Amino acid sequence: MTNPRNLGLAIVLAAGEGTRMKSATPKVLHRIAGLSLVGHAIGSAGLAGFADIAAVIGPDRPDVRAEVSRLSPQAGVFEQSERRGTAHAVLQAEQAIARGHDAVVVLFGDTPLVRPQTMQALAQAVTQGDCAVAVMGFEAADPTGYGRLILDGDNLASIREHKDASAAEREIRIVNGGLMALRGALALEMLRAVSSGNAQNEFYLTDCVAIARQRGLGTRVIMVPEEEAQGVNDRVQLSTCERVLQQRLREHHMRAGVTMIAPETVFLSMDTQIARDVTIAPNCIFGPGVKISEGAVINAFCHIEGAEIGPDAIIGPYARLRPGAKLGRGAHIGNFVEIKNATIGEGAKANHLAYIGDASVGAGANIGAGTITCNYDGFYKHHTEIGANAFIGTNSSLVAPVKIGEGAYIGSGSVITRDVPAGALAVERAPTTVREGWVEKFNSRPGNVKKASEKRK
Ligand code: UD1
Ligand code: CA
Repeated sequence: MTNPRNLGLAIVLAAGEGTRMKSATPKVLHRIAGLSLVGHAIGSAGLAGFADIAAVIGPDRPDVRAEVSRLSPQAGVFEQSERRGTAHAVLQAEQAIARGHDAVVVLFGDTPLVRPQTMQALAQAVTQGDCAVAVMGFEAADPTGYGRLILDGDNLASIREHKDASAAEREIRIVNGGLMALRGALALEMLRAVSSGNAQNEFYLTDCVAIARQRGLGTRVIMVPEEEAQGVNDRVQLSTCERVLQQRLREHHMRAGVTMIAPETVFLSMDTQIARDVTIAPNCIFGPGVKISEGAVINAFCHIEGAEIGPDAIIGPYARLRPGAKLGRGAHIGNFVEIKNATIGEGAKANHLAYIGDASVGAGANIGAGTITCNYDGFYKHHTEIGANAFIGTNSSLVAPVKIGEGAYIGSGSVITRDVPAGALAVERAPTTVREGWVEKFNSRPGNVKKASEKRK
């Protein structure tokens, strides 16, 4: 993808609660592939190369404002205090439009799958020839609810909203996907010319098409596959977008050199970074903030988020890596092991049934099955430090804060509450008692003899 850095202004419309989501969370903050819907629009606009990004949000939405600012600190955020239509929403960003861009591209905060390339094509269309308005169109399997594109030969004459369309116009299946580019120098003039004389008493952005044509200016349609124009109005459509996006992400990583044995069972986040020659077995989930280095193997049924995995590390099956897990080269994290906010040194191993939280584990250390770092006292979290090549026997509890020195041994079943120096053995365990012949004596107690004979009947 070429990345012209002066593409103009992108305005993301992110007002509206999305009542059909049936949610306390505004629609544009619902997530797919670990990123909010509005985040997808902003992220793609950034990739496309818009010099300036603005967002129009609903009133009293500090949460949406914070999300926009988190993702694009430079973005202008404008409030639309009353919902009076898409053109009215765009005009809230008048101040940004007035800065004088070549192109102004309107993106919908609830249409997350639009590719940066499409945004570029729209922006470029309105900087060429006499074209003043470009529209993202697609052929809808079911056009109900969409604005219909009224064509005049090869040209776009106007857009008729579903509620304003005649029966004949409703037969048209080429529809408006929502994205629209306006020639920068004419944008404000066209937007101000929009009136609200229609079935919904709204200022329609789509009226800019007819307005441009009335002024003898050109209009264009950029056609995309229906899938790309998929919007989110309810949670069924949210899951449709998730499905499409997951497939895109899997293909992207496989083409970049990642082996996935059953890609349809692997779930990724937008920001998942995977180096080449990583192998991912079936049924793995990658939440936000994961980075995997070359040659690592992720075995089946792993859940990983906020974690860095070093080269040639082997994870799982059934491992859980939580935020702050950092694994060195060749580390092994096996089944039913949970790692949180912990550094695991090069070649260190925790192969079975362990919890390592708020800890640092030195290179080559061996963490036995059932080892627990007791990091929480009910009020505060404490740190455990395990030296290089230390050997933690099975079923040990390391009560933090505690330090285990380099090469030290911890006897199985110990509860360690004091620091252990390098090279020492620490064992905390009652001595084993052995009573020879005890079983026979026990069985010959009178009551037990009676019970045993009853059992035999
Ligand atoms: C819009 C288009 C329609 C297109 C469809 C594609 C208009 C007039 N119609 O219709 O041609 O086929 O999208 O999905 O543009 N918004 C505001 N403030 C408002 C109104 C809307 O911010 O006052 C935002 C919404 O939050 C949403 C977007 O603009 O992100 C589209 O609004 P919506 O009401 O869903 O428009 P549609 O009727 O779907
Ligand atoms: Ca809509």
